Amino acid sequence: MGTTPALRDGAVVIRPIRLRDARALEHELALNRGWLRTWEATNPHGPLAFDVRGSIRSLLTHQRAGGGVPFVVEVDGEFAGQLNVSGITYGSLSSASIGYWIAERFAGRGATPTAVALATDHCFFSLGLHRMEICIRPENAPSLRVVEKLGFRYEGLRRRFIHINGDWRDHFCFALTAEELPEGVLRRWKEGRVPAGAGVVPAADRAAALSPLRVR
Ligand SMILES: CC(C)(COP(=O)(O)OP(=O)(O)OC[C@H]1O[C@@H](n2cnc3c(N)ncnc32)[C@H](O)[C@@H]1OP(=O)(O)O)[C@@H](O)C(=O)NCCC(=O)NCCS
Repeated sequence: MGTTPALRDGAVVIRPIRLRDARALEHELALNRGWLRTWEATNPHGPLAFDVRGSIRSLLTHQRAGGGVPFVVEVDGEFAGQLNVSGITYGSLSSASIGYWIAERFAGRGATPTAVALATDHCFFSLGLHRMEICIRPENAPSLRVVEKLGFRYEGLRRRFIHINGDWRDHFCFALTAEELPEGVLRRWKEGRVPAGAGVVPAADRAAALSPLRVR
């Protein structure tokens, strides 16, 4: 994998994270504690001492091994959040997943859909990946809007899929394949050509997500 460039659309830039982002990241995580907690991935084996530099190091190690691309999201030149491409597999799958967050003061300005579109197009057209996936808790209405805006297709309900805020949580899964949109995600969205209804979750899955899977 070559060097990842900074990618821009208007006021939004995504660029590779660096160790020297630790201070800004730590500051934003502290400032946005309540905003992020409900949606934060947690360790199923119990809380670990959280170390921001260590978390950046582990993202960079994952990147060097070819498994991910960790981006910082900047809005108007300021550190605004993170977008991680993770779980990259090449070969017959050629797929990856995307996760993201933005600081509360930058919310509602379309920065995240722009960042997701830039990252997805990078994965399709520069890394040669074929499928990108985003999984979202059923309760996360703002994040569901992000995939809806970009026309990610709903693919299904995954039970107890990711450990978030202290427990295994159901997720709705959405995806796009490169062949569906040769013009790219950003362009299709900006030109108002996102097909209506792709991200709609069927009523049966919404109802199912309201009743947690029974476990012993
Ligand atoms: C989900 C999230 C990344 C969306 O980012 P964003 O940059 O605000 O995205 P958008 O600007 O497209 O806004 C998406 C929706 O958020 C909602 N929203 C807008 N401003 C908001 C605010 N100040 N507070 C809460 N929600 C808001 C709106 O419903 C908006 O949809 P609309 O544009 O149709 O009105 C952001 O809310 C966030 O970081 N939340 C906490 C962490 C998280 O949920 N991460 C994703 C896990 S899957």
